[in-house]
Amino acid sequence: MVSKWIAVGRASALGRRPLPVTLDGLPMVLFRTPAGVRALTDRCPHRSAPLSGGRVVDGDIECPYHGWRFDGNGRCRAMPGLIGELPRAFVPSHQVLERDGLLFVTTAKDPGTPYVGALSGPGTAALRLENRVTSTLAEVAENILDATHTHFTHKGVLRGLSPRRHTVEVSVTGGDGWVEARYVGEPRQEGLVSRLLEGERADSIGRFIAPGIVELEFRGPRGPHLVTTFHLRQAEPDTVRGVAVLSGPSRLGLGYLKAALFFPLFRLAVDQDQRILSAAHRRRQQFADIRQMSGPLDIMRPHIDAILAGRRPSVADTPARHLISL
Ligand code: FES
Ligand SMILES: [Fe+2]
Repeated sequence: MVSKWIAVGRASALGRRPLPVTLDGLPMVLFRTPAGVRALTDRCPHRSAPLSGGRVVDGDIECPYHGWRFDGNGRCRAMPGLIGELPRAFVPSHQVLERDGLLFVTTAKDPGTPYVGALSGPGTAALRLENRVTSTLAEVAENILDATHTHFTHKGVLRGLSPRRHTVEVSVTGGDGWVEARYVGEPRQEGLVSRLLEGERADSIGRFIAPGIVELEFRGPRGPHLVTTFHLRQAEPDTVRGVAVLSGPSRLGLGYLKAALFFPLFRLAVDQDQRILSAAHRRRQQFADIRQMSGPLDIMRPHIDAILAGRRPSVADTPARHLISL
């Protein structure tokens, strides 16, 4: 299970103006044409100006420097001031699609369909936000899947203020390109976010799917009642960008009112993580020759690292079980 389409933003963020995005260091520009969204390399072949600084005219993108225009396939359609025949000029184009309120791009030959989350489609209410963190993808993915930090980083938001803990059984399984931890025995968390949104909790699942999907699924006796899907990408060497989608069945009333209360709290939790991750990244750079120490509670990191290195996680062949106090 590997997702070859990478979510690079919310569809609502792309209006009439071109949208610059970066994927593994490759700058792209997305823009809307009558035939749908198109993606080109964000570099004019003439004097290398970023096309995203230009505008969209009749479905073509116009370079802000000398006004060359390119269609959605990257073919040059006009060189203003030229009298006579237009020479051939191209910008590389990329596959892009709009799905479930997100914009996905890929550089893969045979990308299949994009992963839109464990809970999506009709009957689902969803909220989306974008974020950027100064860190690496492995650190951010681990952070989202790490239940132990919530007592400290998110005290009072995702967790109650009381230090009470419960014994929880964690089962870890996986396969090529993915790893998943299932938590059983955890009562509903006592922080504000959980109080607002969750009913009775049966279990929860945290999963990582290569190359950058991190998902938390909180399930009740009758299926998922809250899913957060993070689409992460290493945009630059020190920058991780992500689109987070929060979804719940609309029948359970993740309506506008609750969403309006919930959203700022979720945003707050994301900001708390961003601050600690960025501060830790700066320290890691200052102490670049000293390795970080992992502890027995860092259950997911070895598997995330293995998957990111292109290896099969050990739990694919030997599922693991841990008892922890959460
Ligand atoms: S750099 Fe784009 S038209 Fe000259
Ligand atoms: Fe967190």
